[in-house]
Amino acid sequence: MTIVKRLSPASFLLPILLAVCCPVSSTAADGKDSRPPPEPRAYRSATACASCHPEIYKSWKSSRHATSFTDPVFQLPYDRIRRSHPRKAVICEQCHNPGRFLLPPNAPLAAIFAQEGVTCDFCHSIESVRLEGPFPRYHASPGVMRGPRGGEPGKRVHATTFSGLHVTSELCGGCHEFRNEFGILVLGTYSEWAGSFYRGEGIHCQFCHLPQIFDAKFMASKQKKGPLDHAMSEGRKRERLAKAIPMRAVLRVSENEAKLTVTLKNETVGHKTPSGIPTSRLRLVSTLYDAEGKVLGRKEEVFEQVVGDGAGKPLEKPELIFTAAREVLKDNRLGPKETRRIEQAFPLGGAKAAKAEVALLYEEPLTDISLRMREIDLPVSSVVVPAKAGNSALRAALIAIVAILLLLAAVVYVRRKGR
Ligand code: HEC
Ligand code: HEC
Ligand code: HEC
Ligand code: HEC
Ligand code: HEC
Repeated sequence: MTIVKRLSPASFLLPILLAVCCPVSSTAADGKDSRPPPEPRAYRSATACASCHPEIYKSWKSSRHATSFTDPVFQLPYDRIRRSHPRKAVICEQCHNPGRFLLPPNAPLAAIFAQEGVTCDFCHSIESVRLEGPFPRYHASPGVMRGPRGGEPGKRVHATTFSGLHVTSELCGGCHEFRNEFGILVLGTYSEWAGSFYRGEGIHCQFCHLPQIFDAKFMASKQKKGPLDHAMSEGRKRERLAKAIPMRAVLRVSENEAKLTVTLKNETVGHKTPSGIPTSRLRLVSTLYDAEGKVLGRKEEVFEQVVGDGAGKPLEKPELIFTAAREVLKDNRLGPKETRRIEQAFPLGGAKAAKAEVALLYEEPLTDISLRMREIDLPVSSVVVPAKAGNSALRAALIAIVAILLLLAAVVYVRRKGR
């Protein structure tokens, strides 16, 4: 009774509700069914997809897309801006709660979609995207699932259609790129990618962030590939980060100085690292020890983007980063495929340096410090390098000897070939 009463003022919502509660009843999946598949012309909750796409549902559920609206890390700044500048708060929802712009605000599904953040039916209903200009940037229409394959006759339980957009970075670019009203590029992941080697090679976001799940079941049946992993967790995995940003170090010690040279490379991150919201950063920490393990010195270098309020003051609160940034104060992040050499000099003052330890950390500082609910420092990798004598005359002599030997070898080779 209460349900009917609540619905009566807006009875047009009934089909939507039905679609949520009673997802697509399955038609024959035996390959002989030639009837057109049912086409529910309404958006559906992610829970309606779970029964048939369980692995994808599970991985999406663990993603930050699924919690993009409900996560307190978002809710706190969102709440602050809603109270101070309600008009500006609307922009946050464009990306963190995209359902709000597809559904009437009082539709029951609107509340469910908000709980689900960047949800399945939003992404798979997208028809087109505008990368710049005013919001909303996405044009979507429900019912037909757009994806990388297109119709698979006989298996269709909902209509599907091939969408070229879904295999390109443009699909992601509508949300992973944002320039604020003062012209500051707050999120530049899409354009960083678009200006990189990866675009030329046709390596889109999906290639790295939506990898195939290698399920034993699929391996056994000769069909190598399982469904796609929707967790988008590339940035959370330590082993992958260590491979993505390899690090080398050399320590040279002379009479009164130790010189540490660290080489970092952005090997396989398809954009700057770190990218996205300017709160994450990479921290390089070097510590110099003597033979007894006593610390002789410590140095740090932080790779990050910092935006300011226009008067030189750095902004840290996410809502201000998005709405009030007027200048970029610092940006020393590593571009795609960039190699960076960092030289650090430690004065020794009589002490004897024996080794250095270099650690790379991936940090996502909590935007609201009171909430200790997220891992802050993710140690990416660390190396220990022994000291080498930094005698430059000796080194030059060695290099000369090696060069002469190589030259001799080349001469011998050319002569032999000539015969
Ligand atoms: C951020 C947008 C986004 C969200 C959210 C999303 N998907 Fe996807 N999904 C994609 C993209 C993009 C592809 C195609 C990737 C490719 O082929 O490279 C895809 C592929 C798929 C495929 C095809 C798999 C295959 O093996 O070819 C299915 C099925 C699917 N998604 C279902 C879901 C379900 C179910 C959910 C929610 C639990 C979901 N998706 C959430 C973007 C999304
Ligand atoms: C009754 C089972 C069932 C339900 C419920 C279901 N699907 Fe599917 N879906 C399938 C089957 C079967 C296929 C075709 C085989 C495949 O790709 O796995 C498919 C294919 C897809 C594709 C691939 C389309 C393409 O062209 O690449 C997408 C995307 C997709 N589904 C999304 C969803 C989303 C989003 C939901 C929830 C709103 C959902 N599905 C609910 C069974 C279902
Ligand atoms: C409707 C907007 C929207 C679309 C479309 C979208 N994203 Fe996102 N994405 C977000 C938001 C918002 C977050 C941040 C969620 C949070 O942390 O609260 C996010 C987070 C992520 C993260 C996790 C970042 C981290 O810090 O771990 C990755 C990776 C990602 N998205 C990749 C993609 C890819 C790849 C696509 C395209 C297939 C895509 N996104 C499409 C809005 C979107
Ligand atoms: C060649 C592989 C590759 C491609 C292509 C790629 N990424 Fe990434 N991405 C990574 C790796 C590795 C990380 C983890 C390192 C990091 O966070 O900097 C990452 C991290 C991220 C993050 C978390 C950012 C942060 O620093 O908190 C987001 C968001 C993201 N990618 C979105 C995208 C989008 C959107 C695209 C397409 C425009 C894309 N990625 C293309 C490999 C890739
Ligand atoms: C153009 C789309 C877009 C708009 C507009 C937007 N965001 Fe985001 N937001 C994102 C994406 C994408 C990420 C993830 C980037 C990353 O991980 O580096 C993100 C990340 C965040 C994070 C960090 C979340 C986490 O889990 O670490 C917070 C907090 C946040 N946004 C708050 C806001 C607030 C507040 C607003 C409105 C003033 C806003 N955003 C507007 C797309 C957007």
